[in-house]
Amino acid sequence: MAQQPVTQEQAAEAHRLVAQAGSVWGAAQTAGIPESTLNRRYGAAVARYGMPEVRRGKAAPARAPDAGAIVMPELPEDTAPYDELKARSIREFNRYKTAHDARRLVKLPVRMEGPIGLLATGDPHVDARGCDWSLIDAHTKLVRETEGLFATNVGDLANNWVGRLARLYAEQHVTPRETRVLIEGFFSDFGGKLLFVDCGNHDVWNGQDDLYRWLARAAASSMAWHGNRVALEFSTGARVVVNSRHDFKGSSQWNITHGPLKAAMMGDRDDIYTCGHLHAGGYQMLVHAGGEISHVCRLSSYKVLDPFKDEHGWRDQHLPAALFVLNPAAASPAAKVTVFADPQEGADYLTYLRRRHATPSLVPGGRSEVRGGGGASGRRDGVPSGLGDAARRAGADVSGGKSGRPARLGGDRSGGNLSGRGKRR
Ligand SMILES: [Fe+2]
Ligand SMILES: [Fe+2]
Repeated sequence: MAQQPVTQEQAAEAHRLVAQAGSVWGAAQTAGIPESTLNRRYGAAVARYGMPEVRRGKAAPARAPDAGAIVMPELPEDTAPYDELKARSIREFNRYKTAHDARRLVKLPVRMEGPIGLLATGDPHVDARGCDWSLIDAHTKLVRETEGLFATNVGDLANNWVGRLARLYAEQHVTPRETRVLIEGFFSDFGGKLLFVDCGNHDVWNGQDDLYRWLARAAASSMAWHGNRVALEFSTGARVVVNSRHDFKGSSQWNITHGPLKAAMMGDRDDIYTCGHLHAGGYQMLVHAGGEISHVCRLSSYKVLDPFKDEHGWRDQHLPAALFVLNPAAASPAAKVTVFADPQEGADYLTYLRRRHATPSLVPGGRSEVRGGGGASGRRDGVPSGLGDAARRAGADVSGGKSGRPARLGGDRSGGNLSGRGKRR
């Protein structure tokens, strides 16, 4: 809204007030008029209506006798006035805060009975020549075809080279336009069961995340810049909180899960922490002093062949996906979440658990649910043991295997030399 020109009456009144107070600030205090308004009116009194300068310490400028013979018109301002700017800023802050607070913990009601699974997937880098698309295909198919299984992703959807790195397009077979086709297909291959995607650093380098977010929304998913923290709420009243980011602050050459572990120890004690970014995988269980359990996991990447990794001599620590089975009827915190490094094993266990939930007579001894506390050792029912169980037996950090396929938990905890893994990938 354009400002109204200062009338001669307004200018004269402002001039009188400033003359009495000796300064614009003093006059504004006395009269209760905003200083900016009074300053504008006083300025018009002197410059436009030819009244003398009366501010204390300000010498009246010398004016020629015919100085007021030609009057400059007061043109409309192209900048919004203070009151309008203030009102707009308050409105925008409130909009920002409402959106921000709504994402602190997003509640997701689970409208199906029994256990469900989450397949957390690592950095796709779908346009990389070293991206294992067969593995992506197998994992999306597993999600589509397994009842109760859903997916999440930790970001870096594509290399999306920018700046000096744009020279690397010469080393890959996919153009930027084709990349968008691959990402759209990647989203839709989950069959509407991809719950959320965290933005990775490669996604936000040049604002591509806006396009990816739009594609994600079209696939009934959600993509958030600073990660996703969601509470899966079951009809039993149980809930599982998943805290996922592309990366968590903090690194250690001895522990690939140091960043998310720190978040679990110093943060909200959520049930599951997932991240990616370093293209090296690992898993760790943290039992808090109060008995709560946090499952801390860093996924590696589907870009399993990586010249950047070869250049630095980093070893393979493949864990491109991990499957978390959530049991809303678990009898103990230990049985609430079971983790599998092998998605197929996890899906088999989920299917078994869902069948057992639907048919309680399948449970050995007639008990209705998993008995917790010490993991699944000694199970008599022939179910595959999960990562969580193995970790409980091992009692510590379980890094991804060095073989070409995802490690079964506890089977290969090579870890190896992780030096330099704090670098951004
Ligand atoms: Fe990455
Ligand atoms: Fe990254």
